[in-house]
Amino acid sequence: MLSALDRSVVDAVPPGGNWRDLPENFPSQRVQQIRASAGRGEGSRSTYYGRLRWDRPSYTISTYFNRPGNGCFIHPSESRLITVREAARLQTFPDYWRFSGTLRQRAVQIGNAVPPLLGLAVARMFEAGSVVDLFAGAGGLSLGAALAGHSVVAAVDNEPAAVLAHNLNMPGDAAFVADLGDESSARRAWREAAARASGSVDLLIGGPPCQGFSTAGKALKDDPRNKLLWSYVEAADYLRPRALVIENVVALAQSRGRQQLGDVRKALDAMGYQTDVKILHAEGYGVPQRRRRTILVGTRGPLPDWTPPEHSIEPPAFMSSQPDGPQASKAQTVLDAIGDLQIPEGANLDVSVRLGSPRTSLQAWLRGERTQVDAAA
Ligand SMILES: C[S@@+](CC[C@H](N)C(=O)[O-])C[C@H]1O[C@@H](n2cnc3c(N)ncnc32)[C@H](O)[C@@H]1O
Repeated sequence: MLSALDRSVVDAVPPGGNWRDLPENFPSQRVQQIRASAGRGEGSRSTYYGRLRWDRPSYTISTYFNRPGNGCFIHPSESRLITVREAARLQTFPDYWRFSGTLRQRAVQIGNAVPPLLGLAVARMFEAGSVVDLFAGAGGLSLGAALAGHSVVAAVDNEPAAVLAHNLNMPGDAAFVADLGDESSARRAWREAAARASGSVDLLIGGPPCQGFSTAGKALKDDPRNKLLWSYVEAADYLRPRALVIENVVALAQSRGRQQLGDVRKALDAMGYQTDVKILHAEGYGVPQRRRRTILVGTRGPLPDWTPPEHSIEPPAFMSSQPDGPQASKAQTVLDAIGDLQIPEGANLDVSVRLGSPRTSLQAWLRGERTQVDAAA
């Protein structure tokens, strides 16, 4: 439920707008803090208290989509935030995909996920085979791999609610709980994963959480903040998959993160993997959301040829000189994804219902009525 103050924000912000549309003297400490830090030029707060536009992709769906002050999560035309199902759709989780636990846990599972359609685009570069997914969450990347024809034989996470969600959705109870930051439990998990793959893993995938980046002068591998990334590298060394994918935030490919990524690539090179890194824009793959991610791929043979699509990348609405002008882009929009959903009168933000027939190919796909979505079409 929104507080009275949040409700007045929600009512005051127009589609495509954000905290900048609120009066200077708006009585919210948070809004004033955001205004002050933006005034000092500290980072971009441009999407905070943002309202979505029907005719654009959404902004990044984070784990805080149930709070208006942390991003652009206000429904395009109603006096409320987006629901759990709407957020899941903007991440391209089909309606049959279930999440588990409290509202907070489900928001984390959704916001943390790799959009399955982005996962599909990455996973389909590799010949279908057995997949191990580390830091698997509720299975965004796993689902992408499954859609590409792979078989997810093991998926590991330390969050029981996420593991439960993964097993609710994927066949074969592939997911299990393990702390990959703990050496002995990680080793047990790799052994278990190897056994489930009958000793031969075709594709290792995973998005280790990044807990900040090492400061210069410290051995990168020994910095506790890098532990989970290196746990992935050690898993690769143990499992020796034919190919591997690491998904991460864009910061991993920038400034200090780049140094860390360089070290990871050297370690993988020493194991016989060729690697390549690109920053991919989810909206280039049919995802109705602006979300950029660093993707590292590694293979023992020649690397796949992967040229990211550029044609559907568009500048954010607030930077566009002609926000209502002709759209150069064919990115999927918020309307394409959730235009057929409604929240029943008086229901909480967990609930949305589908109206009538799907109006777009993306809605049909999200309803499970189509096997293919016209990516970026
Ligand atoms: C960015 S999310 C991965 C999302 C997932 N790839 C998807 O597409 O849905 C990172 C995951 O790492 C898990 N995690 C964090 N610390 C962990 C640890 N020490 N051991 C195992 N999993 C951990 C979190 O619970 C979270 O689900």
